[in-house]
Amino acid sequence: MASTNRTGRVSAIDYEAGTYEVTYFDRGQSVTRKINAISNGEYKMPVIGQIVSVAHTSSGLAAATTTGTVWNKTNRPAEGFKGLYRKEYGSQKGRAYSRYDENTGVYTQYVDKRTGRTCNGEIFDEAKGPISLVAGGQFQAKSSSASISLNAKTGVGLVAGTSVSIEAGSFASIEAAGELSVSAGGKYTLTVTKGVEVEVSGGEAKITLNGAVITVTEAGDVTVTSPSKINLSAPEIKAEAPAGDIVIQGKSLVNHTHEDSLGGGTTPPK
Ligand SMILES: [Fe+2]
Repeated sequence: MASTNRTGRVSAIDYEAGTYEVTYFDRGQSVTRKINAISNGEYKMPVIGQIVSVAHTSSGLAAATTTGTVWNKTNRPAEGFKGLYRKEYGSQKGRAYSRYDENTGVYTQYVDKRTGRTCNGEIFDEAKGPISLVAGGQFQAKSSSASISLNAKTGVGLVAGTSVSIEAGSFASIEAAGELSVSAGGKYTLTVTKGVEVEVSGGEAKITLNGAVITVTEAGDVTVTSPSKINLSAPEIKAEAPAGDIVIQGKSLVNHTHEDSLGGGTTPPK
């Protein structure tokens, strides 16, 4: 028996063993032979009924092997042009595949349900251009035993349609080498349990609350103004100044005098 290549139709498959039966229709009769699928560590069984190419050894003792399915009238490529590599993973074309177009340099993988990688060591992805991760559903980045870092040469943006939450188990810090701005369209609440310290070491400090203004100049002058009223109430109030005055309803605390019972003036208070 001479070494020959024949084509036949797959009639049965032993999926566990990686072998299948092929029926030939030549020589006026059908002959079924069990053959071995080509391996090279790669597993993909044909579909029953598909045409495969089979190589028979000259001795006929060793099992025949197949070089795989062939493209023909009933098994046409999903696409084809010069420079294309494409591999179908499923039995249906376009359901799961990888492809490379050397005309564009674009490599694509596609699956219909789920894809992923599991690595016992490190996963490293690097691109000289941009990287995009786009999710139609939830997007999650999690480090189960270490930290997550976002580091950018220019900006980092966190934008959410509804809420943004930043929580730290121990320490949180916001630092800006330039200006820092915090604004709220609604109420702003600051709650602490162990003291507050605000330190301004340059420029004017000004707090405006409903028209009332507390201003501290860079020199340290403090001004408190109100468009309506200022109330000071405490069990003890103490004010000390070697210079200055308090004037209420035109009367000076320092320079006022009284009229004595005889209609004469008195000296200022001592
Ligand atoms: Fe007086």
